[in-house]
Amino acid sequence: MAIRDVLKMGDPRLYEVAQPVAAFDTPALHALVADLFDTMQASKGVGIAAPQIGVGLQVVIFGFQSNPRYPDAQPVPETVLVNPVLTPLSDEIEEGWEGCLSVPGLRGLVPRHLKLRYTGFDQHGVAIDRTVDGFHARVVQHECDHLNGVLYPFHIRDLHKLGYTEVLFPERGS
Ligand code: NI
Repeated sequence: MAIRDVLKMGDPRLYEVAQPVAAFDTPALHALVADLFDTMQASKGVGIAAPQIGVGLQVVIFGFQSNPRYPDAQPVPETVLVNPVLTPLSDEIEEGWEGCLSVPGLRGLVPRHLKLRYTGFDQHGVAIDRTVDGFHARVVQHECDHLNGVLYPFHIRDLHKLGYTEVLFPERGS
């Protein structure tokens, strides 16, 4: 399919609320998912949401075995998640470093629910129901925030903990 341009922070389309997908297993939905994978892989991201390529639908993808942007993260299964619903399972909050393809070059320390359940559907309409924690839970929260027009910097408690990747993590290179 195609590598699409990723919208950057400041673009008003990133701040809109995405609409639910009404029909599964359609050529249009499969084409969108293929473009999301192509774009994520080209950017070496661990996830991407449809609004980041200018499509206002509730579709996110995520997952990786290993990723140079997050060398310490546990693997997350490759997932297509449509019309997601997230339910935190405890009050426990954990701070962790995040980046975003729409905020290139930066990292921020972001509080997230440590453990949650998420439900939704894959692109074929097959139900998904998972209970996850740690980095998997973090990635789901980050991607699904995009469906509500929220970017990770909005959550940062101390803006000293927002900076350039090569300054914060010089050992990783830029
Ligand atoms: Ni993002």
